[in-house]
Amino acid sequence: MAALTNDGARTRVPLLAGNWKMNLDHLQAIAFVQKLAWSLKDARHDFASAEVAVFPPFTDIRSVQTLISADRLPLKFGAQDISAHDSGAYTGEISGAFLKALDCTYVIIGHSERRTLHNESDEQVAAKVTAAVKHGLVPVVCVGETAEDLEEHGPSAVPVAQLRVALAGLQAGTDVVVAYEPVWAIGSGQAATPEQAEQVAAALRSVVAELLGDETAAETRILYGGSVKANNIAGFMRQANVDGALVGGASLDVTEFSGIVRFQKHVGT
Ligand code: PGA
Repeated sequence: MAALTNDGARTRVPLLAGNWKMNLDHLQAIAFVQKLAWSLKDARHDFASAEVAVFPPFTDIRSVQTLISADRLPLKFGAQDISAHDSGAYTGEISGAFLKALDCTYVIIGHSERRTLHNESDEQVAAKVTAAVKHGLVPVVCVGETAEDLEEHGPSAVPVAQLRVALAGLQAGTDVVVAYEPVWAIGSGQAATPEQAEQVAAALRSVVAELLGDETAAETRILYGGSVKANNIAGFMRQANVDGALVGGASLDVTEFSGIVRFQKHVGT
């Protein structure tokens, strides 16, 4: 989180997050993170001005943690999902306590692929958000509308409703990241326009303000996700309410992801 300046200017530190989905095993993960770190070091990337996080599969996290800690790499990392439960008879699930023990900073919750393929409800997403916060992890809460939702309800109704449920159990001051990911834009090559992303991001910030207060809303980072590439990131980052990106496919290519991280080079600030 970051503070506001006296004149209310945005000082949120952008977050560029790579959601690897079910790609790269732990050996490939080590090679990839090394290459990414070298590439960003070579380019003299200023991590204080744009934070970088990777979200590998669960089986890679220990390897990524060991590499990042041994080489003191300025990268953050997190998991792609979390159990709503702390421990017990939940075969196949991963507790937030385990993720915290591996130094995860973040956890993605409610990605549309989990909502669709695993039938995750808004209530389950909310329970996972509560579990993440309880274990000291920052939830990256994903919301977004399908093409049908867009036609029926317009752009922000569904993501706004999803976010209201997801954040209902949180207190003012909680560090949370919101990712607006229109389902029709994910993996389709057809990104939303920067103006569409801004419109929904602004509506989502109002939800955060309503539930967690103005101060928390001013500090909360809202990301756009869905076919983000090095050649379209700048347009999103020029928007007042877009504070970074959640990147899928393009986060698996070092050159492409480095280009996204170094968006300031193309924004022209
Ligand atoms: P994409 O995926 O960048 O491949 O569209 C985004 C996401 O699912 O987070």
